[in-house]
Amino acid sequence: MKILLAGGAGYIGSHTAVELLNAGLEVVIVDNYCNSSPVAIERIEEITGKKVEAFEADIKDKEKVFEIMKQTKPDCVIHFAGLKAVGESVQLPLKYYRNNIDTTITLLECMEELGIKNFVFSSSATVYGEENDIPYVETMRRLSCSNPYGWTKYMMEQILEDAAKADSELSVVLLRYFNPIGAHESGRIGEDPQGIPNNLMPYIAQVAVGRRDHLTIFGNDYETKDGTCRRDYIHVMDLANGHLKAVLYADQHKGVEVFNLGTGNPFSVLEIVHAFENANGIEIKYEFGEKRAGDLPEFWANADKAKEVLGWEANRTIEEMCRDTWNWQKNNPNGYNN
Ligand code: NAD
Ligand code: UD1
Repeated sequence: MKILLAGGAGYIGSHTAVELLNAGLEVVIVDNYCNSSPVAIERIEEITGKKVEAFEADIKDKEKVFEIMKQTKPDCVIHFAGLKAVGESVQLPLKYYRNNIDTTITLLECMEELGIKNFVFSSSATVYGEENDIPYVETMRRLSCSNPYGWTKYMMEQILEDAAKADSELSVVLLRYFNPIGAHESGRIGEDPQGIPNNLMPYIAQVAVGRRDHLTIFGNDYETKDGTCRRDYIHVMDLANGHLKAVLYADQHKGVEVFNLGTGNPFSVLEIVHAFENANGIEIKYEFGEKRAGDLPEFWANADKAKEVLGWEANRTIEEMCRDTWNWQKNNPNGYNN
């Protein structure tokens, strides 16, 4: 089976490529490297000892994407090619709507014209919005998002549902990720954010490696057990395995299916800081700061459906997530720009 990974050079895409290749599937990567490096492709090939068909292209460029799909004939498309910086999406909403929605429609149109029927989509827990009870269950409605990035995910889920309603042959799997962290155990691929990291774990890793002086913890008077926010952190290789299961599922089913990919066990910001310190024997300097606009006190997944239907479960521990993050960061202090 051959899988086309749109945005496959990025953080989650590169780890998924390794997982798919190790399972014996063929991988095609299409990326414009707007938030990644072609070095990731070499590293994927190095880890797996297998060849990746890689193309540099913007997924919004329909002519190019059509030619690549026609030439490579994938059985399934996984769409990772989104912009994901929440703060930037508030400043530049049109850039986010253009990129995230246009890429989705372009992929669907090319697939329709070429008779490719299986689609796996990188969605987010953010589509549960601000009003749902926790833990989040797939049967809950999508509710209002706090930023344009979140709305793009909300809208793309709707577009995919409508496309599947209109084409009974289409199989769409919506994967709602919780908080992916960690790296491949080899330390050869990992998360390489441009500029100042927005997310917690890359920030901690850059403090550990000396690129940042200290972590600012956003708020310590939330109504949680230690006053800091709680999230459902999931090892990126467990997440990658979820994509393998989703691709196999899509091949056997029609219509739309939604899965949460999380562990079901939340950790607070302070617990993550201490877990990183204990796993790696490094002190992380931190200060408490103001709350970040749009942050929810806590949320986590009900991950039962993925277990029952896909036979998937996250099984790596928080220690492994912290150890593998550090293994990547200490061996690649400047990410792929070594
Ligand atoms: P990433 O930025 O590392 O990967 C995205 C990749 O897509 C990058 O390689 C980028 O260069 C590429 N890309 C973006 N727009 C493109 C375009 N128009 N044409 C070609 N390539 C393009 O991000 P990631 O963390 O790997 O996330 C992958 C997907 O998962 C994204 O859609 C993101 O919104 C979603 N997601 C991520 C998280 C997270 O915490 N990392 C959580 C929920 C959902
Ligand atoms: C954020 C996004 C979410 C997106 C997800 C993955 C917001 C409001 N939400 O989720 O839409 O899907 O990233 O890309 O941005 N924290 C600190 N200090 C830091 C960084 C983070 O204290 O320097 C705290 C945050 O307040 C939060 C926790 O760490 O409580 C996790 O933050 P982060 O990694 O950004 O993930 P989310 O906020 O869950």
